[in-house]
Amino acid sequence: MPDRHIYIDYNATTPLRDEVKAVMAADFDLFGNASSMHSAGRQARARVEEARAAVASLLGASAANILWTSGGSESNNTVFQTMREIADDKRNEIITTNIEHPCVLNSAKFLQSIGFKVIFLPVDQYGIVDMNVFEKALNEKTLLVSIMLANNEIGTIQDISGIAQRAKRFGAWIHTDAVQAAGKMPLNVDELGVDYLTLSCHKIYGPKGVGALYFRNNAPVVPLIRGGHQEDGRRAGTYNNGAILGFGVAAQLALRDVDTYKNTITPLRNRLREGLLAHIPDCIVNGHPHDVLPNTLNVSFPGAEGESILLSMDLAGIEASTGSACASGSLEPSHVLMAIGAGPERAHGSIRFSLGWGITAADIDYIVETVPPIITRLRSMSTV
Ligand SMILES: Cc1ncc(COP(=O)(O)O)c(C=O)c1O
Repeated sequence: MPDRHIYIDYNATTPLRDEVKAVMAADFDLFGNASSMHSAGRQARARVEEARAAVASLLGASAANILWTSGGSESNNTVFQTMREIADDKRNEIITTNIEHPCVLNSAKFLQSIGFKVIFLPVDQYGIVDMNVFEKALNEKTLLVSIMLANNEIGTIQDISGIAQRAKRFGAWIHTDAVQAAGKMPLNVDELGVDYLTLSCHKIYGPKGVGALYFRNNAPVVPLIRGGHQEDGRRAGTYNNGAILGFGVAAQLALRDVDTYKNTITPLRNRLREGLLAHIPDCIVNGHPHDVLPNTLNVSFPGAEGESILLSMDLAGIEASTGSACASGSLEPSHVLMAIGAGPERAHGSIRFSLGWGITAADIDYIVETVPPIITRLRSMSTV
């Protein structure tokens, strides 16, 4: 076992913050069904609603516009399935990008397979949508524009308010997947101009298996899960009290700490970037130079293979990722890196470092010392 253990894969998931753990542990006995009328139920309901208000505050929204879900994947699927239900002959086109998370991409592809026209917008070398191409794609038949706020693999941040303004002119619904943006940059649904916004709790130091969908007052939500009357009929199923309470605290902390996060994490990420660039020849940073999440650094090491780098780093106690966690184990190069024009060799030789609370300058220095000899060794063995 290595002496050190450095987790630097916070875009894949995050550990519970102590405050979240404390609330979840203290409320372990809050077993009442939040839909029940008696006092155990009412007690649970009050806490679930407090948590909803906290999640709403993170977005500058009202609690009435927050739907609990099981996570980002369900929130995104809910939007696409809603579109499936409300589409008609006049409006049935969907615009998204080819760098979305698989839960959006596959939802969009499913609608395409049943006859919807879906446009997958290309992005430039930094992962930014070309507004001219987007404007050409928009028309009176556009039903939904779904574009992620920040990319999980390269961290590039899109101009969602600019996208929303353009889409609104055509009366389209606008959705953004803000799973990676939450807690890392300020979020406000009115400033963004979106009708739907997706959150996932396990990316903001809360528990897994709970998420939220913000929906604007007039925006339709057709249930993905039908059953009881929970969530005003928008999503059936008994409330997961503990996870929801954890989400509430995680959201409060994310809102409170968003500036500190940026000010703490950005210099560490920059130190890592400069250290790797200084010690490893021919490496390429993927993603936008400025419009990027404070914690994300995606680097290609051409001539070395991503999975081999990952395993060697793991042996040295460094846990990072090759592209998205969902894509790991797959031999396909990352669709995001291919979309920014990286080409298969650069895409296969890339590592995503995603920083989070707890990473120190000493951790970064250890990575900067450890990774260069790994790359040199793997490049010397490479047949590419
Ligand atoms: C951008 C983005 N959207 C959606 C998801 C899926 O969220 P969940 O794991 O809560 O289903 C992820 C998780 O990796 C993500 O990064």
